[in-house]
Amino acid sequence: MLRLGGGVPLLGLAVAAAAVVAARLMGWWGLRAGFRLFIPEELARYRGGPGDPGLYLALLGRVYDVSSGRRHYEPGAHYSGFAGRDASRAFVTGDYSEGGLVDNVSGLTFSEMLILQHWLSFYEKNYVFVGRVIGRFYGEDGLPTPELAQVEAMITQGLEANKRELKEKQKFPPCNAEWSSTRGSRFWCSQKSGGVSRDWIGVPRKLYKPGAKEPHCVCVRTTGPPSDQTSDNPTHRNRGDLDHPHLGEYTGCPPLAITCSFPL
Ligand code: HEM
Repeated sequence: MLRLGGGVPLLGLAVAAAAVVAARLMGWWGLRAGFRLFIPEELARYRGGPGDPGLYLALLGRVYDVSSGRRHYEPGAHYSGFAGRDASRAFVTGDYSEGGLVDNVSGLTFSEMLILQHWLSFYEKNYVFVGRVIGRFYGEDGLPTPELAQVEAMITQGLEANKRELKEKQKFPPCNAEWSSTRGSRFWCSQKSGGVSRDWIGVPRKLYKPGAKEPHCVCVRTTGPPSDQTSDNPTHRNRGDLDHPHLGEYTGCPPLAITCSFPL
């Protein structure tokens, strides 16, 4: 038990508690393995105004020194609302009102969580990491809270979903498409359609994605083994992905035509 000059233990505790609060407010209490721990009140002093000790902001509980980007964040600048606090939610919503500049990111979708991840990479790359804020994302011990773990899990799942989507897009690149009020619509494939460059052209097919209301036009490889079979499998029918169960032909378009036109 802490005693001051052999005095009352309670007084010792009160003095110790006051010392801890003072130390935390001074910012050095939180020095942990190369980073500082901030309480929100301490971080709030770093808004880049006259007499402020610096210009910091926090994202998902991580604090960055953004003084080199002063023109964006200093008082009166367009993004000054981000300074001296963790306003993670506003990085997604663009709501810079006091009610919007908050760290509560609950209810965001996977793709919105990826926006946060994008900003995190941005600050990691362009600014200096200085510490963590105690609160929603880090505990008093400086360790991640379950809420941060949940956000990170959503980011991981979002990144994995993006990877799967990219792979799927390479297998089934979107068709080129045009529509005119006189000629009707036309879908066609080329070696670069849907933003996917490849060494095959393919033919238009309707792709029925599980869960999607409407099919959309994709280009489908017509030779070689199906994408989900290895190329050394000798039993394939040399029809590429044509036999994929989620595909349908366009009525009125020859099965191996590169272009399908649908006049009005
Ligand atoms: C959710 C919406 C948005 C957020 C969270 C956001 C956030 C930011 C942040 C934090 C910066 C400073 C980056 C740095 O430190 O270098 C910035 C810069 C900038 N933003 Fe935004 N922004 C948003 C939307 C927009 C939109 C819609 C526009 C354009 C119409 C825009 C135009 C710019 C420009 C031009 C800069 C650079 C300014 C300069 O270099 O002087 N932003 N943005």
